[in-house]
Amino acid sequence: MASTTFDIGGDLTVRRIGFGAMRLAPEPASARRAAIAVARRAVELGVTLIDTAHMYGWGANEELLAEALYPYPDDLHIATKVGISLVDGEWRVDGRPSVLRDGVDQALRRLRVDRIGLLQLHRIDPDTPLADQLGALGELRAEGKIGHIGLSEVTVAELERARSIVEIASVQNRYNLLDREHDPVLAACDAAGIAFLPWRPVAAGSAGSRAEAAAVADELGATPTQVALAWLLARSPVVLPIPSTTGVGHLEENLAAADLELTSDQLDRLDPLPGRD
Ligand SMILES: NC(=O)c1ccc[n+]([C@@H]2O[C@H](COP(=O)([O-])OP(=O)(O)OC[C@H]3O[C@@H](n4cnc5c(N)ncnc54)[C@H](OP(=O)(O)O)[C@@H]3O)[C@@H](O)[C@H]2O)c1
Repeated sequence: MASTTFDIGGDLTVRRIGFGAMRLAPEPASARRAAIAVARRAVELGVTLIDTAHMYGWGANEELLAEALYPYPDDLHIATKVGISLVDGEWRVDGRPSVLRDGVDQALRRLRVDRIGLLQLHRIDPDTPLADQLGALGELRAEGKIGHIGLSEVTVAELERARSIVEIASVQNRYNLLDREHDPVLAACDAAGIAFLPWRPVAAGSAGSRAEAAAVADELGATPTQVALAWLLARSPVVLPIPSTTGVGHLEENLAAADLELTSDQLDRLDPLPGRD
């Protein structure tokens, strides 16, 4: 059976199915209480990697996680992202070094930590030299404010360029059973031992693939969502899915996918990318 853990950057050990916190709502109060319950249940069930970002509520999501989970268990890692700003009510990619530095300082304060184990650049800013963006993150790492540097929504060429500037520990791209656009990036991560965090991991889409996932799910006494997550785990040992949910029921279902073993015949049936309907 494949390993249930992965060492991000060689030393940040996490359980392979994490939790994406993006959909946890900070308000109204009833939604906040429910969100806190989901975050706490995720940790109770053994989640050690939670993904958030400054952009998710412009800090509100990070604050919600701190309210729910601080003081943190030693093995819990909350990965966050910087590099997107809110300007006149619109978000825009902003990788200026001063913005990244300020973003990290604010995230440290909101998360109530001295160090962020995995800090991801939410998007590469095309208007700022890449060396400046990654240079700033490299300095933050040297200062001990962050442990490892990750990227999000990058191509293989961007990943390779970034790696020539600074060590990259993770990539977070959209990827799931039905969306394989970033297969080449996953292959590059696999070859280099870089963690690949597929976002939007709970596949939804073409009827053809839903049917195959449903058939496999029936055979295993599982749900199609669990099959989609188990397929991701089987794709490569570097894959760390971060499914998001607002409900404890779906959370429990998603985390139980770690125990699902797909046979080689089932993988063969799921691997071909079906045509869109
Ligand atoms: N780097 C980036 O640019 C980027 C972009 C988007 C997201 N992300 C990260 O990726 C994480 C996951 O992405 P995502 O939320 O877009 O996609 P997702 O996890 O694939 O999908 C979440 C959606 O699926 C539903 N769902 C979850 N579990 C389910 C289950 N067992 N059965 C049926 N429905 C289920 C949820 O609804 P319920 O609430 O009803 O369960 C929610 O609507 C986010 O939290 C965020 O951390 C990163």
